[in-house]
Amino acid sequence: MCGIVGYLGSREAYPILIKGLHRLEYRGYDSAGIALINSKLDLSVYKTKGKVEDLENYVADKDVEGTIGIAHTRWATHGEPNSQNAHPHYSQSGRLALIHNGIIENYKVLKEELISKGYTFSSDTDTEVLIQLIEYMQMSHNTSIYEAVQLALKNVIGAYAIAIIDKSNPNQLIAARKGSPLIIGVGDKEFLIGSDATPIVEYTNKVIYLEEEEIAVMKRNGEISITNLSNVPQTPIIKTLELNLSQLEKANFPHFMLKEIFEQPEALRTSMLGRLNMESKTVRLSGIIDHRDKFLKAKRIIICACGTSWHAGLIGKYIIEELTRIPVEVEYSSEFRYRNPVITKDDIVIAISQSGETADTLAAIKLAKDNGAFVYGICNVVGSSIARASDTGSYLHVGPEIGVASTNAFTAQVTTLTLIAMNIAEEKKTISKERIAELVEELQQIPEKINQTLQMNMRIKLYAQIFTYARNFIYLGRGFNYPVALEGALKLKEISYIHAEGYPAAEMKHGPIALIDEEMPVVVIAPKRGMYEKVLSNIQEVKARKGKIISIVTKGDTAVKELSDFCLEIPDTEECFVPILSVVPLQLLSYHIAIAKGRNVDQPRNLAKSVTVE
Ligand code: M6R
Repeated sequence: MCGIVGYLGSREAYPILIKGLHRLEYRGYDSAGIALINSKLDLSVYKTKGKVEDLENYVADKDVEGTIGIAHTRWATHGEPNSQNAHPHYSQSGRLALIHNGIIENYKVLKEELISKGYTFSSDTDTEVLIQLIEYMQMSHNTSIYEAVQLALKNVIGAYAIAIIDKSNPNQLIAARKGSPLIIGVGDKEFLIGSDATPIVEYTNKVIYLEEEEIAVMKRNGEISITNLSNVPQTPIIKTLELNLSQLEKANFPHFMLKEIFEQPEALRTSMLGRLNMESKTVRLSGIIDHRDKFLKAKRIIICACGTSWHAGLIGKYIIEELTRIPVEVEYSSEFRYRNPVITKDDIVIAISQSGETADTLAAIKLAKDNGAFVYGICNVVGSSIARASDTGSYLHVGPEIGVASTNAFTAQVTTLTLIAMNIAEEKKTISKERIAELVEELQQIPEKINQTLQMNMRIKLYAQIFTYARNFIYLGRGFNYPVALEGALKLKEISYIHAEGYPAAEMKHGPIALIDEEMPVVVIAPKRGMYEKVLSNIQEVKARKGKIISIVTKGDTAVKELSDFCLEIPDTEECFVPILSVVPLQLLSYHIAIAKGRNVDQPRNLAKSVTVE
């Protein structure tokens, strides 16, 4: 949720840290702060409410010299977003500073103990408790800062990725993690740390993914040692980053979200690369082929995910059941992890997560594995916690998704689930070779069909101006397009703050129809394939109550078009591929409505890109 960045080396730390914070701002953006140790060994902490830009203005006339520092962009969990609660936090003596991503669950008990020992606190955060505890451990055990960190973390319940600097030792940076991600960039006698690789990639492509309960001590001479909480030394494994700088820029787009929507054709091509064989007209996913028996024997598939990834999972259920006849259940990870679900060793759990760091999905994986299930992870971020915790899986390969509202990861998730379904169907022979070949042919056309769909951008922009007045929206779809209705509604809520609900179109008459009047915009996904006639009747019901109909139809449609106030046409495709096309106009509609309402679409209020807390 929060973004953390740190630097130790021979360059000035401030510009590196600020640039890193800008890259991480998508993770949290209610306040930001920075701590630096200068050449006179002063430790200065500067922090402010607001965005990284506000922090830059705040420090404009301050001393920012120093070659070691840590910085943080916050998404509030404990205590309101203000400068006191912003990170870094000082220890009582002012000697140590710490940044933290995660939640210290037992912070109240620890705080009371520290108060009874004379410690005072200047914030409402759990983080300040941690730095005071570290200092207390160091003083009371008369030990090194590294040992104090180890002792303190043994007393902590919860999740953390932390970085600490100590003004009495400006040649050392300490980092540790449990439950929240932390990556170390290894340069030439310099180290960078980040909650993800985005602040690191500009300086080095050599990285170490810190594992659960590991503590790293980085030294100015280029040495690094890693131990776990039980003090067992761990061998640092240096990996090469698959990320380049240009992927982190907006190119000529005004917002990352729009760039990511428009990148979908290319993103999906990359996603399918090497997986669709156009000569043999087959699908090959190494995650399936390498574990063929598991999939052949599977009695059930359980999909666990949150938010947009959960919507992709729902579409996955329709496709997997249709093509493979394996029963599929789709669970919110946050419910699954706590409800004592029935899981057997014949189950396959598919965990879907763009960030690969969603805490609830990570916990769902652990539960599934503890109960003997086989876990297949679908993630975008390479090397992420979920990718590493899964038994096998597939990456989306859409590049970094920076906009908080997920767009290209969603279409890639649906595409990947489609590939999984097709590959299992081939192996199980639940559909004929000829049918697979037809689907392969059509799937390959999808990127170009998204391109055609994107041509409606300007028209959608015009429609969006008309609907800025709306306080509510209803989205309707059936079959494969019911989850698309949910996703369209979520996109609108997230970035425009307009209340929106998605329903299976036929459910409308069981309640939501009461909401429809001449002010209510109703978005209906009504492609030719699937339950077209049924959806047509649902549209009649809305029309009869004077709702404003915005329809998504197959090119050439006339019947729905005639009933609609506004109509958007998508190319025809196989019924099971329609969601990949029908969601695109809904993404654009949300984007343009949000822009027309003056919202910050890339960083909508109260949200964060990576939800690493429960
Ligand atoms: O990284 P994940 O896919 O696990 O994230 C899950 C949700 O937090 C995420 O999809 C969220 O709903 C997005 N903001 C949707 O746009």
